[in-house]
Amino acid sequence: ETQTILVDRNVNKEETYTQAVEILKNGGVVAFPTETVYGLGADATNGEAVSRIFEAKGRPADNPLIVHVDSKESALHYVQNVSDKALHCMDAFWPGALTLILKASPGTFAGNVTADLDTVGIRVPDHPVALNLLKRVGIPIAAPSANISGKPSPTLAEHVFHDMDGIIPLILDGGATEIGLESTVLDMTSEPPVILRPGKISKQQLEAEIGTVHLSTEIKNNAPKAPGMKYIHYAPEAPVYLIEDKPALILKAIEHVQRSGKKVAVLSKESYPQADFHFALSGEALYDSLRKCDLMKVDLVLAVVPLNPEKGDALMNRLEKAADHKWFS
Ligand code: TXA
Ligand code: MG
Repeated sequence: ETQTILVDRNVNKEETYTQAVEILKNGGVVAFPTETVYGLGADATNGEAVSRIFEAKGRPADNPLIVHVDSKESALHYVQNVSDKALHCMDAFWPGALTLILKASPGTFAGNVTADLDTVGIRVPDHPVALNLLKRVGIPIAAPSANISGKPSPTLAEHVFHDMDGIIPLILDGGATEIGLESTVLDMTSEPPVILRPGKISKQQLEAEIGTVHLSTEIKNNAPKAPGMKYIHYAPEAPVYLIEDKPALILKAIEHVQRSGKKVAVLSKESYPQADFHFALSGEALYDSLRKCDLMKVDLVLAVVPLNPEKGDALMNRLEKAADHKWFS
């Protein structure tokens, strides 16, 4: 009963968006593609509409949502005390995979969008389908990733359909998302600004524009400032173990798991034909690979990580969460 509309990203036709706009304006939810992952959108000014997102995902209410707008100019209607650094980030990275945490203008967003914080996460997505939709609907759209809470984020409309069939009325299918990992979340209410969630836009790229930026993981004793980061995320049914990129170690691990009669999947750049399954490992492929582990009813997942991953690497961050920091040894 969930309808999927195929959308050509290169054609901006009124009728393609009519239904989605109508649903959103009437307080319903619609899934749509962005350049990072698919989002589950609703009117960010309508508390009832937003509560439908939380219901559909089974998402804890203390985890605030990211608001999507069509331009910097629109964003500036909804936030205040915007620093020069924040304006610079908007000019340098929007539209793009950077969410800025800013002081929300009071009375703008429904309380459940921000989990009653006085700040809001806001971004302009760099995807023609998302931008066409945002421009046509003309209201800020709250949109978390369009997966069931705790499951890998959707990078294909099929992933959304798998999780949301019968739960939401409409999916706009714009094909595979390009980046495949969620946006970088940068808290502009701290000085220096703090990366709360690493993404494709790196610390180095941000520092080249606005100077020193901290990684939240480098700060000792900090309460989880991006509330969502404390929950287990991106996990398939089977336990995921991180493993060092040493072929002999990996072959031993495969054998060890198979000896107990279990089906093992290896996620890595190089292929391991000894494993029951091999799936690609990259930012673009991670979530699809984790979902394939579920489809194939794998018993255990080995995720091969580089020997010296950089601090704040987005792929490594998601792998650590999927594995709940467990290492195979
Ligand atoms: O790439 C993305 O950001 C995708 C696409 C759909 O745009 N969206 C996404 O939304 O990943 P979501 O809701 O799954 O993740 C929101 C993250 C969470 O870690 C949340 O805690 C944090 O942003 N966040 C949102 N508002 C915040 C706020 N006011 N203060 C601190 N963290 C906030
Ligand atoms: Mg999410």
